[in-house]
Amino acid sequence: MRLVLLGLPGAGKGTQGELIAEKYGIPHISSGSLIREAVASGTELGKEADSYIRRGELIPDELAIEMVSERIGRSDCVQGWILDGFPRTVLQAIALDHRLAQINLDVQMAFDIRISPGEAIQRIAKRRMCRNCGAVYYLDHYRSQNGQVCDNCGGELYRRSDDTEETARTRLMVYMKQTHPVLHYYSMDGRLFSIDGQRPIAEVFADVDYYLQRLADARRAGEAT
Ligand code: AP5
Ligand code: MG
Repeated sequence: MRLVLLGLPGAGKGTQGELIAEKYGIPHISSGSLIREAVASGTELGKEADSYIRRGELIPDELAIEMVSERIGRSDCVQGWILDGFPRTVLQAIALDHRLAQINLDVQMAFDIRISPGEAIQRIAKRRMCRNCGAVYYLDHYRSQNGQVCDNCGGELYRRSDDTEETARTRLMVYMKQTHPVLHYYSMDGRLFSIDGQRPIAEVFADVDYYLQRLADARRAGEAT
């Protein structure tokens, strides 16, 4: 399966990406996480990307394309992948299609996980991440002692540098201007599937999974003929 997850900041791309990865055994690749790892380890890409992330702006297309191309070329991606946060511009979407066409592959489905801007701001304000294992929490549902440590590993919880309200508003504007056209790009040839993201996590996943099972069934039918 080769899938793309689209949606406003806070829509649940990371949350759904993890669930899909768990069920279908393909890697969940978050371009934002790749960039945050590069920033934390001080690589050249990380140094260049840091100020863009802090401002809530996109890193340059060439950097994002190179980073994701390298990642999907690794051996764990042979059976497919879930891209979360990439492509984020039409230029990135075209570059991805070109790269895949060279090896006779394509993006099979793009999901637009839809939430309102108000819900996005609220979720971002209440999100916390584990510094150790990367688990994502939502303060309203968080149940551990003091809300200070991760349920999985006891690691310290922190707030992303771009999760301030001001930066979140910039990210929403950037999404509407630069990423929204990507929805149109995938809808033109029937690859876009719209999902109501403003429901409990399990219900959102059930909708996504309905389409994924159709994809899996079609593949099995193709193999049988
Ligand atoms: P990125 O890391 O991709 O951030 P984003 O798109 O802003 O999305 P988020 O990670 O904030 O939200 P999400 O949709 O993953 O939601 P989550 O599942 O965590 O990008 C960060 C930055 O990197 C960009 O601003 C840019 O600078 C740079 N960048 C990245 N990719 C790039 C690219 N391709 N090109 C250029 N620059 C790039 O959920 C949010 C919260 O809500 C969590 O707390 C979660 O627990 C909770 N939640 C999830 N689902 C539900 C639900 N159904 N109900 C209630 N709560 C829920
Ligand atoms: Mg995310």
